[in-house]
Amino acid sequence: MNYRILGKTGLTVSEVGFGAWGIGKSGWIGASDDESVKALHRSIDLGLNFIDTALGYGDGHSERLVGRLSKERSETIYVATKIPPKNGQWPAQSGVSVAETFPAEHVIACTEESLKNFGLETIDVQQFHVWSDEWVNHGDWLDAIQKLKQQGKLKYFGVSINDFQPENAIKLIETGVVDDTVQVIYNIFEQSPEDQLLPACERHQVGVIVRVAYSAVSTVIPGMRSVRNVERNCQVGDGRGLPREQVEKLKAHRWVRNFYE
Ligand SMILES: NC(=O)c1ccc[n+]([C@@H]2O[C@H](COP(=O)([O-])OP(=O)(O)OC[C@H]3O[C@@H](n4cnc5c(N)ncnc54)[C@H](OP(=O)(O)O)[C@@H]3O)[C@@H](O)[C@H]2O)c1
Repeated sequence: MNYRILGKTGLTVSEVGFGAWGIGKSGWIGASDDESVKALHRSIDLGLNFIDTALGYGDGHSERLVGRLSKERSETIYVATKIPPKNGQWPAQSGVSVAETFPAEHVIACTEESLKNFGLETIDVQQFHVWSDEWVNHGDWLDAIQKLKQQGKLKYFGVSINDFQPENAIKLIETGVVDDTVQVIYNIFEQSPEDQLLPACERHQVGVIVRVAYSAVSTVIPGMRSVRNVERNCQVGDGRGLPREQVEKLKAHRWVRNFYE
């Protein structure tokens, strides 16, 4: 397994991370806890050390499985989770105030709940599960994040960017208020993060977590719930990536679309 630095968090994370949505058993059918636990353990055996989950994945079920893993293993495992928007709306809609999505008391209550699910004292990376740049300099969410950081309940903070809206976090990054990590879709079809988002992250040393991925930036988090897929996916974290000429050929497959429109 190859490792990369997750922006200015300085965390050394495995190039392949574990997308833990499916093991939560909500949104996806067919997972069994027995196989999920085996898959999580196998991923650690293979050198993976970064897991992306969310309070919303099975109402804490995914977090509880990840917490169990952390207790059973002595290796360092970095855990990233997410706070769902209070209004339950995915993706973030333009014109909706941050008071409806991430008021301070909701940010704090969700973080406490996640800590309980994990059975941990601290969360390595806490993220908002949706984001809109309209919320920069509005609301009291940042006070809550700073307080949680001071209390040691979370170490780093980032946002998960709405699908196919990579530009909708540039203001957040450029203002430098919250600059630990962003999570974004980046793959053969969805290449648009290359236009503005990735250069902005590079300028500001923001860690990039890639979901539904093809090319690693800091870490990619394929969703996994079986030992078979863990073994296949960890194999490609060899630090070599794709040959340059193949990357050039894939550029022709860029496909600009938005599922939500
Ligand atoms: N808004 C957000 O913040 C957001 C949204 C979406 C996802 N995420 C995060 O990103 C992660 C990844 O999302 P995703 O959409 O890529 O994955 P996913 O929806 O969690 O699951 C992808 C599925 O692909 C299959 N798979 C994995 N590796 C494979 C392989 N090597 N060969 C064949 N099939 C394979 C698995 O299905 P089977 O188990 O059935 O084989 C797996 O369950 C999620 O788990 C979650 O952590 C975040």
